[in-house]
Amino acid sequence: MVNAPRDAFVSSPGAGVAGEIGIPGDKSISHRAALIGAIAKGTTEIEGFLESADCRATLTALEALGVAVERSGAGRLRIQGVGLHGLRAPGAPLDLGNSGTAMRLLAGILAGQGVSAVLVGDASLMQRPMARVATPLARMGAGIRTRDGRPPVEIAAGTRLRGVDHTLEVASAQVKSALLLAGLHAEGTTRVREPGRSRDHTERMFPAFGVHITLQDGAVAVTGPAEPAATRVDVPGDFSSAAFFIVAGLIAGRGPLMMRGVGTNPTRTALIDILRAMGGDIRLHPLPDAGPEPRADIEVRPSRLRGTVVPEALVPAAIDELPVLFAAAAAAEGETVVTGAGELRVKESDRLAAMAEGLATLGISCERLPEGLRVRGGAIAGGTIDSRDDHRIAMAFAILGARARTPVTIRHVQNVATSFPGFAETARAAGIDLREGE
Ligand code: S3P
Repeated sequence: MVNAPRDAFVSSPGAGVAGEIGIPGDKSISHRAALIGAIAKGTTEIEGFLESADCRATLTALEALGVAVERSGAGRLRIQGVGLHGLRAPGAPLDLGNSGTAMRLLAGILAGQGVSAVLVGDASLMQRPMARVATPLARMGAGIRTRDGRPPVEIAAGTRLRGVDHTLEVASAQVKSALLLAGLHAEGTTRVREPGRSRDHTERMFPAFGVHITLQDGAVAVTGPAEPAATRVDVPGDFSSAAFFIVAGLIAGRGPLMMRGVGTNPTRTALIDILRAMGGDIRLHPLPDAGPEPRADIEVRPSRLRGTVVPEALVPAAIDELPVLFAAAAAAEGETVVTGAGELRVKESDRLAAMAEGLATLGISCERLPEGLRVRGGAIAGGTIDSRDDHRIAMAFAILGARARTPVTIRHVQNVATSFPGFAETARAAGIDLREGE
């Protein structure tokens, strides 16, 4: 047995993965259900809410804004909506931790609320670009300031918003959603266009809360003022969390591995298309509809993967899965090339740099491209990886350890709890030999 150092995982080659695992609730959908529920009229009930550090940051911020949140069991919440204009000024800066989604979506909501607020976060979040939300929100009339385009984000009281047409420079569901949420408060129509299709959870959730949207010529529009009406939200399992085990099921041996109740919204699942093109045996067993988000049980079997050239059009719908795709590429025969993924530089870490550095440490040849990576699959050695405090980097290398020749140690894994509490237990339940430092 290998002892894990503090705040680390040690992932060792083992007997493969098989059986059935549960996948925790979807992070993007959990944030949105809580945020929209907060400004709805009435009580919103959420089932399957992701109890992760990021989603807790959203709930804590909402409580500071005067929203009562009742927990009635694991993943069960009741949000007492305060209505479209009911949030109260918080007494202190709102700390959104590691969560870019919480900060950007809240900026959109607060822009039209008539209260002043300051949004801050941890060291990673304080470095992330916020002009992409602040600039269009200011065009809508918001009093919003950043420090050279980064947090803190300061929102001034007493501004009135008007709808605008805005075209995003890069596909981003966070920016699109911030503008649509601001659009609820604005006079007139807010219309957002993006160069590629980012995840559409906000567009799916608005009608469930009684808010009419129009989708036309690739643009989404909402006309305000529009107050959401409370509803019930059933959150599916997070495809981005399942992604680690989809790859494990393909590269770690044994199988089959079944994941139950996973969200399969097509704006999220391009990883499946990419892995199938690489030869991956991934089977979807669709489940009956339980709201606007499709879901399925996902079954994976060990497969011989071949490298591929990923079409750039698939990148927005695989953006959070690219770290684990690079791990799959390391275990594939031949070269995998990803381009058009410059956004990975401004996630919780520079994920292109983090993956290139980590793969090189494990003996995988890897070339940095201006907006992507070229990975040549091969024998995976053991070694020590720095996750750069990034949950998805930590989990991608934890999966790769199951295929390596000797153990892989991943340092700085605490942030795994931002999106996947219980990841280590789930990995062990699947059969991965993963030890944690205390
Ligand atoms: C998210 C959108 C994506 C994604 C993030 C969650 C969301 O970010 O990477 O993990 O919930 O809207 P961008 O909008 O910056 O692409």
